[in-house]
Amino acid sequence: MLLQPPTQKIPIQEIPISKNIKLFIKREDLIHPQISGNKYWKLFFNVNNYLSENPKNPYIITFGGAFSNHVSAVSAVGNLAGIPTLGIIRGEELQEKWRDNPTLVFAKRNGMNLKFVSREEYRHKEKLTEFLQKEFPEALIVPEGGTNEDAVAGIKMMLNNDTKDFDYLCTAVGTGGTIAGISKFCEENQKVIGFKVVDDDSLENKIGELTLKQNFHLIDSCFGGYGKIKDENIRFINDFKDKYGIPLEPIYTGKMMQKVFELIDEGFFPEDSRILCFHTGGLQGIEGANLLLQKQNRNLII
Ligand SMILES: Cc1ncc(COP(=O)(O)O)c(C=O)c1O
Repeated sequence: MLLQPPTQKIPIQEIPISKNIKLFIKREDLIHPQISGNKYWKLFFNVNNYLSENPKNPYIITFGGAFSNHVSAVSAVGNLAGIPTLGIIRGEELQEKWRDNPTLVFAKRNGMNLKFVSREEYRHKEKLTEFLQKEFPEALIVPEGGTNEDAVAGIKMMLNNDTKDFDYLCTAVGTGGTIAGISKFCEENQKVIGFKVVDDDSLENKIGELTLKQNFHLIDSCFGGYGKIKDENIRFINDFKDKYGIPLEPIYTGKMMQKVFELIDEGFFPEDSRILCFHTGGLQGIEGANLLLQKQNRNLII
């Protein structure tokens, strides 16, 4: 088995706040230095099941944007296992500019082959997937963000005895696999809140189809759109690290935590609630974000 279940407990840290509410964060970001957070669990069964089938010529293909945490993690898996990987990357213009992008440089260093496609081609990923599966019948093709049934099954590993004692379970939502897994496998009395960082109306149905439960609620946490970083987001992340010593990144976990604090202030959570937020990793994205911020002469993430 390439990806192993954790041998040590993943720490749950309290974030002290001056309210009658208890707030905690589960540090899934610490699970692996390169395959961090939910990526580890979304790839767990995808990769392990594939390898247990003993493909003669293993090959992993996946999709993502220029700063994708998922592409970064798949490239690391490939490097770890000595399996060739192919990343289909959104944006033809990156063909010339990938060297300026730390995520893509990291993927290349891990041996990942990168194919840059136009946004239009990328939008029709299903067609591309069909084509690739015919071209490489033995390949494992993992969808964008890693979200599929195997990913949902893997997310179960983020839940254990330590997570049972919380009223609310919170996660950032991109492609929906993580929240679907939490919703599917959490306790009956627990409520699941998804902090949606993508403006995508189809997410609710997609998540519903994966979990088959109605215990989840989505909250808009886009802050201007997917991948957009506002000054208030940078301030929040830097303050949070300063106060609690926990790094967040600006696309998922930073926006989730900022919104959680806003909801607490607005009285969304009843008194004495116990809230658990999942730190889903993705800290590799900070370097790329800082390069963009630097070009715009803006404050950086520390
Ligand atoms: C750091 C981080 N948090 C949360 C998410 C959202 O997960 P999902 O795409 O399963 O909704 C992602 C995307 O995979 C991510 O990279």
